[in-house]
Amino acid sequence: MNRKSFLRAALALPVAGLAGRLLAAATHVQVYKTATCGCCGQWVAHMKSNGFDVQFENVPDTAPYRQKYGVPEAMASCHTAVVEGYAIEGHVPAADIQRLLREKPKAAGLAVPGMVMGSPGMEGSTAQAYSVMLFTADGKTSVWSKYPAKS
Ligand code: CU
Ligand code: CU
Repeated sequence: MNRKSFLRAALALPVAGLAGRLLAAATHVQVYKTATCGCCGQWVAHMKSNGFDVQFENVPDTAPYRQKYGVPEAMASCHTAVVEGYAIEGHVPAADIQRLLREKPKAAGLAVPGMVMGSPGMEGSTAQAYSVMLFTADGKTSVWSKYPAKS
């Protein structure tokens, strides 16, 4: 490499780096959880490690947030999150949220109802089978993805 092309490369690098960072600007996720919820914190860590820009707020009760963001009570779990206008209830895997944001279906959000052993943030020695549910603003639900049991 001669001096001129070295200089060009040296100048181009920071610009490419900046453009890369701008393109990869992390998707913001706002989480509402209770202060004592340990598995909620584990789910926040799961989302962060998958590249999401996560902020959480500790609230006395997440039920009002389910109501506000249109999560059916039958879909209820321990925390409610909001990402790009979609509600995310409970221990939904980051991969399902990435697919949601890619496909952008007409829906209110995704949920893993209850507290499923083996879902992200609920890892342990066993894993129950579970489904991630898509729900609409008028309360209709359908299966978005399925995860098998592991022992
Ligand atoms: Cu939980
Ligand atoms: Cu939680």
